[in-house]
Amino acid sequence: MEKLSPETIKRGLSTELLGQRAIYYDSIGSTNDVAKQLATQGAVQGTLIIADEQTAGRGRRGRRWIAPHGSSLLLSLILHPALASSELPRLTMASALAVGCAIEETTGLAVHFKWPNDILLEGKKAGGILIEAGISGETVDYAVVGVGLNVNLDVAQIPEIAETATSISMELGGRTSRLELLHSFLRFMEREYQVLQQGLSPHSRWAARLSQLGQRVEVATPWGRESGQAESVDADGALILRRDDGTTARVTVGDVE
Ligand code: BTN
Repeated sequence: MEKLSPETIKRGLSTELLGQRAIYYDSIGSTNDVAKQLATQGAVQGTLIIADEQTAGRGRRGRRWIAPHGSSLLLSLILHPALASSELPRLTMASALAVGCAIEETTGLAVHFKWPNDILLEGKKAGGILIEAGISGETVDYAVVGVGLNVNLDVAQIPEIAETATSISMELGGRTSRLELLHSFLRFMEREYQVLQQGLSPHSRWAARLSQLGQRVEVATPWGRESGQAESVDADGALILRRDDGTTARVTVGDVE
């Protein structure tokens, strides 16, 4: 297994900001938790927290994120985006695009997205983005971009996800270098971040890879269910549904079923 470490990460890194400071753990609770703590202590923007294993990895809505030791990319980045809190989904879309471009560059596999934060390979979940932020009113003090990506993982070993998930190695039929993927991701992410900081939303490029666009979907939201045709995604990542009665619904939170 290739080794992840601050030294191996530094070698081959072509970014100016992201990953220039890297903190590696063989095993840690959650890289997002470490990143949030460091962010509140004033850690430099672009700090990367990366682990070979998480004992308390988290997904959206309190779900567990499971990845056997050394199988995946499990990382968090500390950023200070010039975004209002309502614009934070822009960072989710930018991060997903960077992951997608890195997978395509490194492996040639085609990548699609599922609203709001899933990375898909051949229609199955291969990764996800979890943004957590420190917010004062509408102001974002810091944002932590958490990325979990199934790289060299046989999902059949994990009954909870065996049916719905996949990995890069399963789709490729061979192992992939996590370091190469990481370097590529950081490079694309730095570019996406610059675009975000200029006040531009990546929603059109993100929506172009959205697997549900044009399809009839059901979304479970905290306020009830919505259904309709997935028509578009707006600049702040909300899913626009065309209901059967012709009206539109703007869905900001939920799970597509
Ligand atoms: C999701 O699809 O629900 C998002 C999954 C995000 C998982 C990553 S793994 C690295 C970082 N640390 C965590 O505890 N979660 C994110």
